[in-house]
Amino acid sequence: MSFTGSVSSLVVVGGQWGDEGKGKVVDLLAGGFGAVVRYNGGHNAGHTVKFADRHFALHLVPSGIVHGGSLCYMGAGMVVDPLALIREMDSLADQGVEVEGVEVEGRLFLSPRAALILPTHQAMDLAREAARGGGSIGTTGRGIGPAYQDLAQRRALRTHLLTDPAGLVERGRKLMAAHNRELELLYDAEPVDLERACEQLEAAANRLGPFVHEVGPRIEAHVERGDAILFEGAQGVMLDLLHGTYPFVTSSSCLPGAAAVSCGLPPRLLGPVLGIMKAYVTRVGGGPFPTELHDALGDHLRRRGNEFGTTTGRPRRCGWFDAVAARFAVRTAGIDAVALMKLDVLDELEEIRVAVGYRAPGGKLLDAPPADARMLAELEPVYETLPGWRTPTTAVTRDGDLPGAARDYIGFLEERLGVPVVLVSTGPRREETLLRGDGAVADCIRAAVGSELAVPSA
Ligand code: IMP
Repeated sequence: MSFTGSVSSLVVVGGQWGDEGKGKVVDLLAGGFGAVVRYNGGHNAGHTVKFADRHFALHLVPSGIVHGGSLCYMGAGMVVDPLALIREMDSLADQGVEVEGVEVEGRLFLSPRAALILPTHQAMDLAREAARGGGSIGTTGRGIGPAYQDLAQRRALRTHLLTDPAGLVERGRKLMAAHNRELELLYDAEPVDLERACEQLEAAANRLGPFVHEVGPRIEAHVERGDAILFEGAQGVMLDLLHGTYPFVTSSSCLPGAAAVSCGLPPRLLGPVLGIMKAYVTRVGGGPFPTELHDALGDHLRRRGNEFGTTTGRPRRCGWFDAVAARFAVRTAGIDAVALMKLDVLDELEEIRVAVGYRAPGGKLLDAPPADARMLAELEPVYETLPGWRTPTTAVTRDGDLPGAARDYIGFLEERLGVPVVLVSTGPRREETLLRGDGAVADCIRAAVGSELAVPSA
């Protein structure tokens, strides 16, 4: 066995509808990187990281925080609820993970250019969802959409105001009063208590101000020192604002290029793209989902895969691997290699289906998701059926130890996607991971993981 590769910067993106297991992969790799960067979304994300006998649910803070060595950055493209960030920092501290006070400046750096999520954004998110009735998006109710809307409307309050508590309260009061009018007049909803919200914001600013620093120049300084950077995407390509199943998407860009935009960095610094995909698919919230299983098999995947949201606890919709959507994700996000997660969840199945095309109502075959979500909802997946392996793969760490049918399944996906599967996850823990193949991304992963995972190359 030889780990010949060196760690290069890497972008990790979700290749499906979010919840693919990015947290596990980022946590596994983080030790090899000088910095871990979150670049999109907010506390709608939920990353579960299991480390030794501890279990961390992260929403805003980059998953690298669990690793003592990496510094963590939150880019300008994020939307940050200061109260949620404090809750998360406190919960990390309760579990012995230091975020502040370790070094002079701590380990977490928050761009001054990110938009703040205010309590009224959350109230608007909930009120708008209620008003949408049956056509609701099924948002996480965290205020993500309204906060990005204010940003695009150029009236958002941004994170630099955390260094100016009085200014934040003054401007926050005005903006939240406008939000309250909208809540009352348009949605007949309860207004938010402004006094309380302002007090909370002031307290949050007093606490978070010291974390606010420009991110781009610090990351460039890392690169100059020879550190590799791990960019951690949230959500997934099919939830991307422009390229996902609009309007059933989140309000940020989930593609790798957004990392450069969010941090104000040259795109050439980003490195290759590792797409995270589950061995089947899940989706939370509304919107078209062509391979969804509404039967006992769907229930089996949900139960076996523990498919309940980290952020909202909602049951996830489950379905067969959708190679049409996945190939679209590979192309749209420029995914160079795939990490295939939760392979073991398929262990008991007699046969496994993969969608390889979509059939339109008139019979026409499509090989990519259409832009119009209503059309997507009417398409029938065309499946290929593969034999299952009916053998436990949990905790298998060598390609050669996988049952032949499982290797064939992985090979089939590789052929369909046109990129290699370089990591297979066979359980929630770090050590339940199999590294395979070669090439730039595989080498980078092996080098990053290093001795943390005694995984021989297959
Ligand atoms: P929002 O991001 O809260 O506005 O929600 C918009 C859509 O994205 C909803 O369908 C959510 O369920 C989905 N979503 C947002 N964040 C995540 C995530 O981290 N994992 C999975 N789905 C998500």
